[in-house]
Amino acid sequence: MSVLIKGGRVVTAADDYVGDVYVEGERVSLIGESLDVQADKVIDAAGKYVLPGGIDPHTHLDMPFGGTVTIDDVESGQTSAAFGGTTCHVDFIIQPKGQTFAAALDEWKAKANGKQVIDMGYHMAVTDLKEGGTLEELASLPDEGITSYKLFMAYKGALMVDDETLFRTMQVAADTGTLVMVHAENGDAIDVLVKAALAEGKTEPRYHALTRPPETEGEATNRAIQLSRVAGSALYVVHVSCRESVEPIAIAREKGWNVHGETCTQYFFVDYSFLERPDFEGGKYVYTPPPRAKENQDVLWNAVRTDVLSVVSTDHCAFLWDGQKTIGRDDFSKIPNGAPGLENRLQMIHEFGVRAGRISLNRMVELLSTNPAKLFGLYPRKGTIAVGSDADIVVFDPEKKVTISASTHHSKSDYNLFEGTEVTGVPEVVLLRGHVLVEDGELVASPGIGQYVRRAKFGEELKTAAAVA
Ligand code: URP
Ligand code: ZN
Ligand code: ZN
Repeated sequence: MSVLIKGGRVVTAADDYVGDVYVEGERVSLIGESLDVQADKVIDAAGKYVLPGGIDPHTHLDMPFGGTVTIDDVESGQTSAAFGGTTCHVDFIIQPKGQTFAAALDEWKAKANGKQVIDMGYHMAVTDLKEGGTLEELASLPDEGITSYKLFMAYKGALMVDDETLFRTMQVAADTGTLVMVHAENGDAIDVLVKAALAEGKTEPRYHALTRPPETEGEATNRAIQLSRVAGSALYVVHVSCRESVEPIAIAREKGWNVHGETCTQYFFVDYSFLERPDFEGGKYVYTPPPRAKENQDVLWNAVRTDVLSVVSTDHCAFLWDGQKTIGRDDFSKIPNGAPGLENRLQMIHEFGVRAGRISLNRMVELLSTNPAKLFGLYPRKGTIAVGSDADIVVFDPEKKVTISASTHHSKSDYNLFEGTEVTGVPEVVLLRGHVLVEDGELVASPGIGQYVRRAKFGEELKTAAAVA
């Protein structure tokens, strides 16, 4: 199968030009001003943007959490990703306590088997490290293409690890060339605040934010940065939500330390006041870190513009409002933490980042595709449009208007964080390794087309067809 994408505005992190992109099989094979080639399928991209497929390095599909299981499995989650122009994601395997990483990997691969709509990799969330067992096993994960370890510094009594586990994982990462990812919040202090709030009868959703003050995020971010310095590992701070966390990352990056950070789409748009919505509406916005005071939104836009933060992910962790979030109607600490978002990242960042003049188109591509590819061992096979790269391509109509709504999204969640938001710009055709995934508003490929990607080590390149040939 060959595809010719004609006359589009090709935008990568570095380039912006009008040209033709020719795809043979699964890879880009020619790029030129006006290519004279035959193709099985020709896509007229005049007036459209031709973008590398989005890469979302932070998702939770089919994950047991908070006494329930996220509502999107691999098929529904990846379908919603495809409609949103995301063609690859890296999901979190959660090591069940007492289990080996090999068993956890098998379990997660079984959940994905036959359901994959887009390409995917895995991070390993370490919950239980034992000398003479999982501590040694950690070092073997890069052989499986798992080149990032995740640690939760919060969720006491569930996923939280102590500093010894965090530090020992960092030491292994320094030896094996893996990236350490942290959910940075002080889980011990939060636990004290949550118990005190509940003892005072404070049960509404807004107490989720009031018991997780921004200082607890800032403290944990700084602790992780300092420990990673001692261990000599690279560090990536996930879902940065506030000034208190941005500032230590900014200092670390100014000093040239190996520290990276992401924020997520929702932190630019949803603020603390959403948690105060009546009739348990606020429960929809219970995710962690919580929606913050509005002034943090400018801090985050500034951080992504200046490369203090290098990635915008979604932290897609979808639940039903009616039936799952409502588990915590009388106790905010029982509301499953998380929200949907995989489908809306590109549209929201294009509308409020690019169209609003906050970031350039190139920077948008860098934040949503190229930087995640580089940080997570997928580049240059993914994250750009270049000869030899996977033909993961989004033909984006920058003029088409759409209103975001749960009634039209593809997640199984019964609500959308951005409900009613009108955006201009829609992924019109989405290609995964040269196969048409989405066209005319339909999923045209079948589940099973997506593949597991064995990622390269931190700082190393994932070879392209051009490099291998
Ligand atoms: O509330 C959230 N973010 N749920 C997913 C788990 C996590 O902390 O990333
Ligand atoms: Zn987290
Ligand atoms: Zn997450």
